[in-house]
Amino acid sequence: MKAVVFAGEGKVAVEDVQEPQIQDPKDAIVEVKLSAICGSDLHVLDGKTPGMRKGGVIGHEFVGRIAELGEGVAKHWEDTRVLGSFLIACGECTACLAKRFNFCDDRRALGLGELQGDLDGAQAEYVRVPNADTNLKTLSGALSGLSDEEAIFGGDILATGFHAAAASDIDADDVVVIVGAGPVGLMCAGAAQRMGAQSVLILDTDERRVRFGAEQLGFDGIVVGDDDVGAAVSGATGGKMATVAMDAVGAVPAFKTAIRTLTPAGGRATIVGVYGAERYELAMGRAWISGLRIQFTGMTNVQAYWDDALFAVAKGDLEPQKIVTHRLELDDAPAGYEAFASREAMKVLLSP
Ligand SMILES: NC(=O)c1ccc[n+]([C@@H]2O[C@H](COP(=O)([O-])OP(=O)(O)OC[C@H]3O[C@@H](n4cnc5c(N)ncnc54)[C@H](O)[C@@H]3O)[C@@H](O)[C@H]2O)c1
Ligand SMILES: [Zn+2]
Ligand SMILES: [Zn+2]
Repeated sequence: MKAVVFAGEGKVAVEDVQEPQIQDPKDAIVEVKLSAICGSDLHVLDGKTPGMRKGGVIGHEFVGRIAELGEGVAKHWEDTRVLGSFLIACGECTACLAKRFNFCDDRRALGLGELQGDLDGAQAEYVRVPNADTNLKTLSGALSGLSDEEAIFGGDILATGFHAAAASDIDADDVVVIVGAGPVGLMCAGAAQRMGAQSVLILDTDERRVRFGAEQLGFDGIVVGDDDVGAAVSGATGGKMATVAMDAVGAVPAFKTAIRTLTPAGGRATIVGVYGAERYELAMGRAWISGLRIQFTGMTNVQAYWDDALFAVAKGDLEPQKIVTHRLELDDAPAGYEAFASREAMKVLLSP
């Protein structure tokens, strides 16, 4: 079958690879109808997420149809339409039973390399999904009306927005700043707004990203550079500082920006973007006196938030599909990666 594979640092290729087989009774094989390129895929290419095999299949956002089921799968039927979770959990350990799937004893992720369980990904014609009962969601009932483009983000970035908003305890008096207006930042902004935040402001160093968020989704935004970002935020919010600032980038300069936008009276910083070996020096006294709360989300707890995310879309409260700018065939994936990495594209979808 055709698949997008890691072809060495910075490169992907479309190659013919072996079709996945059932390896465990709890596996499902899904015929992929639609997949997408995520910021986390770029980390596989840029080396921030190490341990991807050359020839390993990338990709973890997908909607498809169940082609084959292992004997141990209890909650799915062949030939049904499903959404996949990027996070692969066991569904049975103490953490999973407490619905903290992102801290599963056997936590893995699709298409993100050896450190995440060495599972082949979903930018392919077929993908093997372990523990299918936990990691696939049937798109039935109220969700059956969702198009593939509306449903696909429930398995990663939209669930991420909901997780980040919940972790930030968003309330009606919150002034929320989102640093990084890529796909993830825009989902965080949408989720914060839906949770009733007083205001939501998106920040990005790339003017095109801020403009896209404003034009397509109606968010107020600021292009950040060397200027005093605190003053810029206060100027845009009628003199207020952020009560919640989310880092939807995963880079120390962005985290610094988030901290600088926060009120000195108990602000909350929520870190959504992926970090690797970076280090950060914290001014302890300033953090202490301002009651700074820093919350890392860790991997998104997809299975705890995908219902909320998908029902919000089904009700028409959120329109995540509006971020899609490029719809490509799998064969054109390398061009899609280029467009996404250069930020010419907001979100790239791939059809096998
Ligand atoms: N926690 C999770 O489970 C989870 C899930 C999905 C994605 N992510 C992570 O979220 C992050 C964002 O993903 P994405 O798909 O939106 O990627 P993206 O690369 O498209 O978006 C990042 C955005 O940040 C902007 N940016 C870079 N440096 C900045 C700075 N200093 N200040 C302000 N903006 C800056 C870029 O211009 C870009 O628009 C990635 O690190 C990704 O791996 C985490
Ligand atoms: Zn992702
Ligand atoms: Zn588990």
